[in-house]
Amino acid sequence: MFLNTVAENGCRPDFDAVTPEQWRRCQLLYICSPGNPTGAVLDLETLQKLIRLADAHDFVIASDECYSEIYQDEDRPPPGLLQAAATMGRHDYRRCVVFHSLSKRSNAPGLRSGFVAGDADILKNFLLYRTYHGCAMSLAVQAASEKAWQDEAHVRANRDAYREKFAAVLEILQPVLPMSAPPASFYLWPEVPGSDTEFARELFAREHVTVLPGSFLSRDTDSGNPGASHVRMALVAPLEDCIEAARRIRRFVETRQA
Ligand SMILES: Cc1ncc(COP(=O)(O)O)c(C=O)c1O
Repeated sequence: MFLNTVAENGCRPDFDAVTPEQWRRCQLLYICSPGNPTGAVLDLETLQKLIRLADAHDFVIASDECYSEIYQDEDRPPPGLLQAAATMGRHDYRRCVVFHSLSKRSNAPGLRSGFVAGDADILKNFLLYRTYHGCAMSLAVQAASEKAWQDEAHVRANRDAYREKFAAVLEILQPVLPMSAPPASFYLWPEVPGSDTEFARELFAREHVTVLPGSFLSRDTDSGNPGASHVRMALVAPLEDCIEAARRIRRFVETRQA
């Protein structure tokens, strides 16, 4: 089952909506915090609660935390699942597995480098799976990864760069399209008038700027497609390009409304 992450829930899954029967049948809970595309963050209490539920109903929690080092408030990094386990005295991280990547923290998606950490019993099988279903990283990529994981200065600089981009882009776009900086991630996730696919298509045709239609990021559910009427803007380009894109999006929104 899917839990929609919509504005009414602060873009976080409503775990209280899961019935006892659904928890009973659960084998794997997949979470993504900070989330893509909303940048919403699950707090420590929620993560602790999920670990207690995993114990009660015997399931594994897989947590995708690849945005955990891209956040706004330097004094408040998003909590992680293993951190939550440690606060509960679970230093074996039982039932918990987290996935991380250099793609976001180091702006290095081309390296295809990341790690998985957590419950040693689960990772034993995961290693076997990975050995048969993946390929080993080259030695050069391993050496570059080692350096990247050991250095925090470039990650702090990366966060500073994103703060600067959010401030510049929001100044241009907020007057024409309601949106705010998320607590984490490098995305803006505004609601747009009408169809998200039409918005993205017309924006590209007129202004040559690419945004991702929100409905492509989620599925149709009984209560609709939670991504519909949203677009995802990724502030990954250099500052000047983000500013230029924001100006074009603003022009597009203003002339489209006129
Ligand atoms: C939530 C999430 N998980 C994983 C990935 C992929 O990470 P990697 O580049 O390490 O495959 C992305 C990248 O877009 C992502 O947004």
